[in-house]
Amino acid sequence: TYVVTDNCIRCKYTDCVEVCPVDCFYEGENFLVIHPDECIDCGVCEPECPAEAIKPDTEPGLDKWLKINAEYASSWPNITVKKEPMAEAKEMDGQPGKFEKYFS
Ligand code: SF4
Ligand code: F3S
Repeated sequence: TYVVTDNCIRCKYTDCVEVCPVDCFYEGENFLVIHPDECIDCGVCEPECPAEAIKPDTEPGLDKWLKINAEYASSWPNITVKKEPMAEAKEMDGQPGKFEKYFS
């Protein structure tokens, strides 16, 4: 599966949802997640994210993010259509420690 990681937080560009063939993105207030049981590993979303927040879970060190994606995908609503990024997306892009400060 692919997973959404830290830098999506408070950017939420949503380019990823447009290209997913199985519509497996779910939306929180500041962040999106991928449902790990629905993702077919096609990889097309990864290069679409302007924040480079999407990664294959085969990369080392992503256990925390895999858990977060799995946990929230079961309670947040499905998102299938691109919308405006968050107003602060540009300023927030690349900021460290977003999970600790802003995750929701
Ligand atoms: Fe959707 Fe493919 Fe990205 Fe998985 S890898 S979330 S199936 S676009
Ligand atoms: Fe987030 Fe990137 Fe999608 S910022 S909403 S993972 S395009």
